Amino acid sequence: MKIKTNLAILASGNGSNFEAITKAIKKGSLGVSHCILITDKKNSFVRKRAKKYQIKDIFIDPKKFKNRRGFDKKLIQTLNEEKINIIALAGYMRILSPFFVKHFKNKILNIHPSLLPSFAGNNAIADAYNYGVKVTGVTIHFVSQKVDQGPIIAQTAIPIEDNMQLNELEEKIHKAEHLLYPKVLKMFLIK
Ligand code: GRF
Repeated sequence: MKIKTNLAILASGNGSNFEAITKAIKKGSLGVSHCILITDKKNSFVRKRAKKYQIKDIFIDPKKFKNRRGFDKKLIQTLNEEKINIIALAGYMRILSPFFVKHFKNKILNIHPSLLPSFAGNNAIADAYNYGVKVTGVTIHFVSQKVDQGPIIAQTAIPIEDNMQLNELEEKIHKAEHLLYPKVLKMFLIK
């Protein structure tokens, strides 16, 4: 019997990657049977996108939990209830507990806007730009217990041309992200 692919996208903010993945799912090109959004931010824009694409969205309020482990236990319970077997982080701003990462070993993917291991952290595009590197890019990797350090699955390189402004670079990075994330998920999910 073929196991169904049930994907949870975890996001905290704008959600442009969520939308890129959702569009691919709606086209039927990822083989995903069931998709949900989980967010830790009540008023995040990604929730509006979920509504637009009629994706079930679940808000888990961090204020209700004493610590990260408590929050992540609730997260696991929710993912189990929804029978989720693949997780894509897309601008999810909470660090996952080791306990969570172990539970879903090799089932959690993340997107990062630099060529890891360079420029980890949450200001990667500007950090690369301000450092003056001539090439940066996008990385998709498995999530491990160390932030931004799991095994790399795919990368897109983006040259930083002379006189390029930071906002132009940001635009190029996001465009590359929106192509790469659905492509990697397709590779990963359709065997
Ligand atoms: C992306 O640049 C992603 O690489 C990083 O957070 C950003 C999220 O953007 N992890 P969006 O919310 O998908 O628009």
